[in-house]
Amino acid sequence: MTTTRPAIENVMREERIFPPPPEFAARAHIKSMEEYKRLYQESIEQPEAFWARMAEELHWFERWQQVLKWEEPHAQWFLGGKINACYNCVDRHADGPNAEKVAFRWEGEPGDRRDLTYRQLKTEVSRFANVLKSLGLQRGDRVAIYMPLVPELAIAMLACARLGLTHTVIFGGFSADAIRERVNDAKARAVITADGGWRRGQIVPLKANVDTALADGACPTVEKVVVYRRCENAIAWQEGRDIWWHEAVASVSDDCPAVPLDSEHPLYILYTSGSTGKPKGVLHTTAGYLLGVTITTKYVFDLHPEDIYWCTADVGWVTGHSYVVYGPLANAATVVMYEGAPQHPDFGRWWSIVERHRVTILYTAPTAIRTFIRQGEQWPAKYDLSSLRLLGTVGEPINPEAWMWYHRVIGGGRCPVVDTWWQTETGMIMITPLPGAIPQKPGSATLPFFGVSPKVVNREGQPLGPNEGGFLVIDRPWPAMLRTLYGDDERYRQQYWSQIPHVYFTGDGARYDEDGYFWLMGRIDDVVNVSGHRLGTAEIESTLVSHPAVAEAAVIGRPDEVTGEALVAFVTVKSGFTKSDALRKELAEYVAERIGRFARPQEIRFADALPKTRSGKIMRRLLRKVATNDPELGDTTTLEDFSVLARLHEEEE
Ligand code: WTA
Repeated sequence: MTTTRPAIENVMREERIFPPPPEFAARAHIKSMEEYKRLYQESIEQPEAFWARMAEELHWFERWQQVLKWEEPHAQWFLGGKINACYNCVDRHADGPNAEKVAFRWEGEPGDRRDLTYRQLKTEVSRFANVLKSLGLQRGDRVAIYMPLVPELAIAMLACARLGLTHTVIFGGFSADAIRERVNDAKARAVITADGGWRRGQIVPLKANVDTALADGACPTVEKVVVYRRCENAIAWQEGRDIWWHEAVASVSDDCPAVPLDSEHPLYILYTSGSTGKPKGVLHTTAGYLLGVTITTKYVFDLHPEDIYWCTADVGWVTGHSYVVYGPLANAATVVMYEGAPQHPDFGRWWSIVERHRVTILYTAPTAIRTFIRQGEQWPAKYDLSSLRLLGTVGEPINPEAWMWYHRVIGGGRCPVVDTWWQTETGMIMITPLPGAIPQKPGSATLPFFGVSPKVVNREGQPLGPNEGGFLVIDRPWPAMLRTLYGDDERYRQQYWSQIPHVYFTGDGARYDEDGYFWLMGRIDDVVNVSGHRLGTAEIESTLVSHPAVAEAAVIGRPDEVTGEALVAFVTVKSGFTKSDALRKELAEYVAERIGRFARPQEIRFADALPKTRSGKIMRRLLRKVATNDPELGDTTTLEDFSVLARLHEEEE
């Protein structure tokens, strides 16, 4: 049902409102706006009491003594507590009434299937933890994981968590160079990988990429590489370093108790792009993170025991960490996991998965929705999607039309849509509708989750009024927040807590409307969001200039109908090199090899000179206009010397 509100002058403003369907609200955990408001108010007025009550949902070996110790910018939650994330996600279900419940319902791209119950999951995780122990790994050591989307990826993470090893998962789309950089930054002692993984009918050579990353002693901290056999493809083998997963687990016991860990024990490091140079190692710790993802999973997805929950994200990104692994498992959910590409063998694949597994909750990215819109309604129309009761999106702003299509075509007009705003750094969903309580407006992430205090401010940190665009900040700590950047606390302070004093700086622009609903307006720093993948333009620029032909490079994001944003690189070449199509291809390939295919610029434009301000700063705003053929600039398609434009537009930057 749509309620249309009186027209307001701003044409950009979304006027459609979708209240929670009454039958959904009736059995939701949070059933009304009043209930949401009451709990929200409590969570803000008495945060420690609120979070302490929520923390009762977890298993503790020893109860905490202090809920929060806040010494800006460092938070410690549940001090004195002893807890284990793996125990919470696995043992308490495996040793209880959920033992025979399916934890992972997995489907490989070629069509192979596997169900893993909580009892089986406990056995597998315990065995693999014993393997990690037998390698001499100790509490606090870092372990890198570079795997396809198979249950063993989650098993590897959980086995680390069981022993207090800190995992760092590297998305399988990253190249050897990116692996090397992350492994070295984390000083990982072991790498867990697979012979390959299936993607669009092809084998992704994961082990070969690890071999390249580690070649010639380039990663001196790595002692062992454990290899899961997935594709049975030929791989190189280094005796003494490489170990087969299946051989190693065969010779260990399946008894390996979870270790009681301090609440603040480092659970994982996940690298993400920032506005400057190298990737940042976001550090999450155990208790606060686990609590944040556990209760957001429960309330945002309104999870009930019989749900079949599918988050399509790769576990290599934070969405997979929080909402494929830790959050759903802590809630004893049945989690669908699909290894491959949405178009394999055709664009009906996802919908056939929803139909066959009777998926009830689907959580995906706007870019996927836009890809399906482009393919046409005939694909979802072939399948029975009536099992779905809730839809979610994450990763980038969703345009209202994509929201409407998702709601109508996939959700049959009956499913609430939760547009969830959050970040690798926040660990948990921060701004989101609660589907039984909060009316949705297409394109708005709506209201803050319990305990979350977002504000829209100007550069000076002064709060702005309704519908004034500004910086989105969070003005108090929350349990799942990052604790620091691994090995670089100064950068943590500087990036997140110094831009505007005393608040967490998200890097996103936003406004809130007259109902207090938040509307995200995209990154305000030099981070570009391509298909929900966060890419730092500085990282791509420095890769480009490391190519012998490139003198200078400027990379910007240009709006794209499917991927949200696409990368456009402006490049000046050194003398002696020819600006040619061949060089364009070579440069695009160069970026793909050094970062990953998803970071390849969509367009490379040669220039004689880049537009710069008098102080020498590249005029990115102007380049964005050039990249989008902004009519205001006239025809720039053959223009190579942007310094003229720069002089004309200097005052704008
Ligand atoms: C963007 C992904 C608008 C935002 C969980 C943020 C969103 C960045 C939304 C984090 C949303 C994420 N609406 N924008 N619902 N969700 N973003 O670290 O710019 O990969 O800062 O975490 O994605 O990306 P990250």
